[in-house]
This record gives sequence, C-alpha cells and structure tokens, in this order.
Amino acid sequence: MSTKKRVMSGMRTTGALHIGRYFGALKNWIELQNDYECFFGAMDWHAMTNAYKRSEDMEKNAREILAEWIAFGIDPDKCTLFIQSQVPEHLELFMVFANLTPMGWLDRVPTWKDAIEDLKKEDAYNLGRFAYPVLQAVDIAIYKGDLVPVGQDQVAHLELSREIIRRFNGIYKKEVLPEPKPLLTETPMVYGTDGRKMSTSYGNVVPLIAEEKKLKKICNKMVTDPQRVRREDPGNPDVCPVYKFHKLVSTNEDLKWASEGCRSAGIGCGECKAKLFSNLNDLMAEPREKKKELLNNSGALDSIIAEGCQRAREEARETLKEVRGAMKFYSGVIN
Ligand code: TRP
Ligand code: SF4
Repeated sequence: MSTKKRVMSGMRTTGALHIGRYFGALKNWIELQNDYECFFGAMDWHAMTNAYKRSEDMEKNAREILAEWIAFGIDPDKCTLFIQSQVPEHLELFMVFANLTPMGWLDRVPTWKDAIEDLKKEDAYNLGRFAYPVLQAVDIAIYKGDLVPVGQDQVAHLELSREIIRRFNGIYKKEVLPEPKPLLTETPMVYGTDGRKMSTSYGNVVPLIAEEKKLKKICNKMVTDPQRVRREDPGNPDVCPVYKFHKLVSTNEDLKWASEGCRSAGIGCGECKAKLFSNLNDLMAEPREKKKELLNNSGALDSIIAEGCQRAREEARETLKEVRGAMKFYSGVIN
C-alpha cells in the first residue's frame, strides 16, 4: 500500500476544456501527481444532470477530456484516470449518502438557489441536479480521498462532503471513510475574451486546444481597452482583456513590452494580440499534436481508459464492501 496521501478530483464531461480549466485545475493536478496518489475522474453522471438529453455526447466528451489531460502532462502511469459511469459503485454509494443528506443541507448549498431559474429554463430543475453535491461526496469517499484540490470559493461545497462522510462514520459506528480536507490552491482568476469571467454560457472562452487559425481568430476578436480608439491613443493594459491573457501566459519581458508599449502608444493592439496569439499557441502546440495522436490511435487511448477504470473499480468495490459491512447489510451474495 502506498503511504502517499490521496488526492481526488474530477471534471464534468461537458466538452473540450477551455483555458480557465487549465489555470483553475489541470495545471495544479499536473504538479500534484508527483507528490500524491491521484484519482482523477471524467464525471459523466455529473454532466448528465443537466445534459441528460444529450447522452450521446458523453462517450466522445469523456474520451476528449481524458485525451486533453494526458496531452497536457497527466501521466496515466502515475494517476488513476477513470470515467465515472464505468464504476457503477458510485451509484450504490450515492443511495447510501442520499439517505444521510437532509434536504436542508442541499437547500443551503450556496450555488443552488441562484441556479434554480436557469435550471428551469434548460429543463434541468431535477432531482439529479439537486443531489449533485451528494454525488460529488461519493466520488471523494469511494476512493477514500484525503485531499481535494479546491479554490477558496469551493470550500463550502467540500464542507458538505465532509459532513455527509462524518455522518456515515457516526451512524454506522465505524471509521470507514476518511474526512477529506481541502487542498487550497492559489489559482488566478481567468477572464474571457470580453473581460467577463470565462464561461461557456457567455461565449467568451478560449479553448485549451484549438487549431492555429481558430486561435488567431479568437485573439483578433478579443475586446481591448475601449478608450484606446486610434492607434496613436495611449491605452491602459489594466482594463484590457487582452492584457489579462498576457498575464496568464506571457513572460515578464513580454508583459513589460505590452504594458509599456500600450501606455506609450508604442505598439498597436494588433501587434499586442499577435504576441498573445504566439504565446498561447506555444502553450498548446505540443498538446495539440499529442491529443490528435491519442484520438487517432483510439486503441491506445481506450486501453489507458480501460486500465484506469479497472483500477478505480477495484478501489470502489473494496470501499463498498466495507460500507455494506459497516451497515450490516445482507452479505451472503454480493461481497
Ligand atoms: N463538480 C466538479 C466540476 O465542476 C466535478 C467533480 C465531480 C468533482 N466530482 C468531484 C471535483 C469530486 C472534485 C471532487 O467539474
Ligand atoms: Fe490591450 Fe494590448 Fe491594445 Fe493595450 S495594446 S489596449 S494591452 S490589446
């Protein structure tokens, strides 16, 4: 048995990643895999809570997200990579946890009340979506996760997982499941091409992997300092969405070049965007090829997935065995 602490995390399988997901999570995972035993899941059941009418996308989305993780440096030999729906034990533990979760706890989840109106519009104001945080608690508990990398804004979410797990151990009088702790990570705020928070629903995302032509087009269309109307007007990088991207991906030297050139009107916005394009493109150039390779050689990708799912499933089965034992369930058949 490894003595390393366990890190557990995942992402919903909603399609190709955008760079917010990279700077908000993936970049961090890539570092964590060296120090911890990591379980990373492609969470298709979570995606299904609102995308249940598009179930046919789930397979493609899961393969794509896994290919992107690996393309950016997640190592399937170091981490256990799995697709949530390939480990049906999640749903079994979900039922256990569902009973341990008073309705009030879910009602009080900070993001729930705000989401209701939007969910109604997309026909997703449903039981599954309401129970989303319960399934998330399951994901962590089923692999006995010790640590969950989260930003400050998600600590409350994790607190609910902790509460459910604590309740399990208390009621069934056995410390089967460890209480997961947040692994607080500094992540930069990632803004979109229009300066608002990056979000698929705003249509302002930069894909984590895009073809050069597409990326160039996205950079060219980015909003700039609205006060800088003519080339000879000096601008203010602090209010410019293009500069916010520079801060994520450019070297100090390039940052200096952009901010000084902007303030003195020494450079034009076109040049500034061209430099940003080049730096973003450098970030994704290698992963872009790697992702293509993985998706083209589907046998290799699918065997990575199969191996990860199998490993995950063994863990999950072990946990369920202990869970059923602690609950003193009938043990004659499944065990
Ligand atoms: N909710 C996470 C997201 O928005 C995905 C997720 C599902 C997750 N289960 C998890 C994250 C367990 C951490 C731990 O992508
Ligand atoms: Fe923005 Fe660069 Fe134009 Fe300045 S020069 S307004 S930072 S795009």
